[in-house]
Amino acid sequence: MIVPTRVLFEHAYGKYAIGAYNINNLEQAMGLFRGNMDSKAPFIIQISKGARSYTDKRMLEAIIRAADEIWPDALFAVHLDHGDENTCYDCIESGFYSSVMIDGSSLPFEDNIAVTKRVVDAAHAKNISVEAELGQLGGVEEHVKVDEKDARLTDPAEAEEFVKRTGCDSLACAIGTSHGAFKFSGTQGLHFEVIEEIAKRLPRFPLVMHGSSSVPQDEVARINAAGGDLKGAKGVNAEEYLPAAKRGVCKINIDTDGRLVWCRVHREEFKNNPSNFDLRPPGKVFMTEYAKFIASRNELLGSAGQLDSAREHAKKALGK
Ligand code: G3H
Ligand code: 13P
Ligand code: ZN
Repeated sequence: MIVPTRVLFEHAYGKYAIGAYNINNLEQAMGLFRGNMDSKAPFIIQISKGARSYTDKRMLEAIIRAADEIWPDALFAVHLDHGDENTCYDCIESGFYSSVMIDGSSLPFEDNIAVTKRVVDAAHAKNISVEAELGQLGGVEEHVKVDEKDARLTDPAEAEEFVKRTGCDSLACAIGTSHGAFKFSGTQGLHFEVIEEIAKRLPRFPLVMHGSSSVPQDEVARINAAGGDLKGAKGVNAEEYLPAAKRGVCKINIDTDGRLVWCRVHREEFKNNPSNFDLRPPGKVFMTEYAKFIASRNELLGSAGQLDSAREHAKKALGK
């Protein structure tokens, strides 16, 4: 069942985080649904602008509708990841999305407020919620001086003002993570003090953590052993997901880790079976491995085992 994103946040707030996983194709969708059903977790499917144009946006929507039929007990929201203004309007008009993200994080503060407010007005008119972003993810290096480093993190006072002036429904905050497989050069961790200060100023307001892949080192080693070159790849400590969730992070975005599973499976398959040219053997292994990966993440996020209770909450909240 596709539900509004806010309903999932209401159930999760302060207790666990909802895994927000990106999909681009059928195999990812199959692994995603299986993994969430195996671990009994509510979840968010994320579709990026790139994913919408990889095949055709209608193809992904059709895959999700089919999965909803195959797994009628699944409980999930469909979310536009890192949208620009026009893509947000397209998704709002389509009627298929539970929520959209307007990513104005690279804009000056006032411009970010203006574009976010326009999208919020359009989305709320159709009962769709909006995730916005404030602060700059990425590039947080160990050698950068504290002042410079902190300047890239979300400023809690600005976050409070931003949320009040835009009316957005959730906020992606820069708290030390970055996108991709090369996040940290040293031992940096999450800035819990920033999350705590934002949550203090915005009680019960859902916060979002992007760039949350953990880049498992065994996965990287297997990829490199099978011909890959991902030396130095490093991610977030997955043991920090739950502490972040308890402090108000309701949605944790994981994409890169799924791509690493895909890469490992395909590299190993073709290295070990050089005469194979069939897409189905690695595809089957990938779906199984991705399902296992999703279930393992849900355990760390605390969303595993929450499905029945989240469904009861959703039914009540939606008057069903
Ligand atoms: O944060 C971005 C997501 O990982 C989506 O990546 O734009 O390459 O689909 P993408
Ligand atoms: P990762 O690159 O760490 O998987 O982050 C994904 C993300 O933030 C999607 O919006
Ligand atoms: Zn992101």
